[in-house]
Amino acid sequence: MFFKKKQADVFVDERLSHIAFIMDGNGRWAKSRSLPRKIGHRQGALAFEKIVKECSRLGIKTVTVYAFSTENWKRPKEEIDAIMELLGNYIDRAKEEKGTKYVFLGDKSVLSKELREKMENLENESSNSENTLNIAFNYGGRAELVNAFNELLKEGKESIVEDDISSHLYTRASKDPDLIVRTANECRISNFLLWQCAYSEFYFTKVLWPDFDEKELHKAIESFYNRKRNYGGV
Ligand code: IPE
Ligand code: IPE
Ligand code: MG
Repeated sequence: MFFKKKQADVFVDERLSHIAFIMDGNGRWAKSRSLPRKIGHRQGALAFEKIVKECSRLGIKTVTVYAFSTENWKRPKEEIDAIMELLGNYIDRAKEEKGTKYVFLGDKSVLSKELREKMENLENESSNSENTLNIAFNYGGRAELVNAFNELLKEGKESIVEDDISSHLYTRASKDPDLIVRTANECRISNFLLWQCAYSEFYFTKVLWPDFDEKELHKAIESFYNRKRNYGGV
């Protein structure tokens, strides 16, 4: 008799309630196969959906992904158009899924009306669930802070405390990430969650994002559980 091999499980508890991903390496994945960069993004989108499902299966409540930065507008129009199209197609599929709260982090105002409306509808129609998926799109950590400060100024604040800033960021509904994973052998933050990463653990891997699968996710999680978080204490 044959049994389907059970997926190796990894331990997760409330210490890892928020994991964030800098999904890097789609272009290199495509280049190494002599394919256009947009095919790398398409493959990256498949990896993203797989990883989000696995995080949910493991009971990780909040997942944040960096999908398009405020600096990514420097790329060729064809590549940008392909990324916009992938997001639109993803939203069409995601709206059928129940049980996840979708939040877009970033400035939607410069996106096409069609995409903006799709994003807003998904945010408004997705259930207020235990699971949150934050998609950072046209997101920059500095722009997010400037936006927060401007909102505070508009409210007439003369002095502020840390909580005022946290509660005016795009991530106001989520706690800070416990773990930030970056793929594709780059060890930098690239303007991601600058305020929120103050005490996050970082995991860097050479694996390119389209190749990042459940097994690689488990390695990142195991690495997280081998750390001791001091928060400045002893
Ligand atoms: C990350 O992959 C996806 C986005 C930034 C949109 P890249 O497109 O940056 O891939 P590389 O770094 O060129 O390999
Ligand atoms: C960071 O990747 C942005 C996203 C993953 C969306 P980049 O590929 O844009 O970062 P840099 O330019 O190499 O720092
Ligand atoms: Mg890159």
